Amino acid sequence: MKTLAYDIFRTTEQAAMAAWPLLGCGNKNLIDGVAVSAMREALNQMIMQGSIVIGEGEIDHAPMLYIGEQLGAGGPPVDIAVDPIEGTRMVAMGQANALAVIAFAPRGMLLHAPDMYMRKLVVGAQAKGSIDLRQSLADNLRCVAAKLGKSLNELRMITLDKPRHQQAIEQANALGVKVYAIADGDVAASLMTCLSNSQVDVMYCIGGAPEGVISACAIRALGGDMQAELIDFCQAKGESVANREIAIMEHQRCQQMGVNINQVYSLTELVRSEQIIFSATGITQGDIVTGIKEKNGGQLQTQTLLINGLDNTCNIINSLHYR
Ligand code: FBP
Repeated sequence: MKTLAYDIFRTTEQAAMAAWPLLGCGNKNLIDGVAVSAMREALNQMIMQGSIVIGEGEIDHAPMLYIGEQLGAGGPPVDIAVDPIEGTRMVAMGQANALAVIAFAPRGMLLHAPDMYMRKLVVGAQAKGSIDLRQSLADNLRCVAAKLGKSLNELRMITLDKPRHQQAIEQANALGVKVYAIADGDVAASLMTCLSNSQVDVMYCIGGAPEGVISACAIRALGGDMQAELIDFCQAKGESVANREIAIMEHQRCQQMGVNINQVYSLTELVRSEQIIFSATGITQGDIVTGIKEKNGGQLQTQTLLINGLDNTCNIINSLHYR
């Protein structure tokens, strides 16, 4: 794993740079397609036996990087959690905070689950041990505030600005908690709880399960805390005939993969090792890394956050790419 760090951050750089020329094009599938191809090519050159344990979808959704896909040129067996573009909508609409992200761990160490919704609660190291997703959001906010020695008025929660979070936002506000509701991108939001210059104490949302496992890798390495629960499409989006059909398939798929919907997973169940490597390259300007910039000579400058649980380092890597 240690020898893979350099190649790992190159995979997110490649995906980010492939997507960048399409910024603002309005076509999410096109953006995803080019990023997936670039990332797959980079992954296949790596000295590893990589297996996607959680990612964009199932084999019949190809050309996505699908769950169960085997990658690499041979070498140590590793688990991969991937989201070539975290924020396809942001790239399509030229909005801030889009990333290319990936996380690696030794084989068998990451939660193997379908691409479905996940309820997530994340805090930084100082609030570790104060969260319990079985309790209400309000109780969790009280416990986090107590652990941090803050009043509820001083607590800051970040979430996604989605209709399904309206109630959570109102509950938090009613307690006096300040809520930052961002449009998209819960990987960056989760990491913000753990970074030293962090403006937020808690991340709560219902978002993608791949994003949840990818975030969990970084949170574990950074000493934070997280709990998560897989939820079906009806629970996330509301009951309807179409949603029920999707939910039935999700239940079947979870059973095949040996994971349970509505079970609260702790951080150590989401990621069973500290030996992780996480990489996030900015596509557009964001809270944890800057976006891609084109230099006068036409070269692209990228910024990547590489978190390495093998040597406990958090690296910001600025690369200038000569064409
Ligand atoms: P993608 O662009 O990778 O799909 O994700 C953006 C995102 O905001 C994630 O951060 C979040 O987990 C998910 O979408 C939420 O899903 P939805 O867009 O269905 O609300």
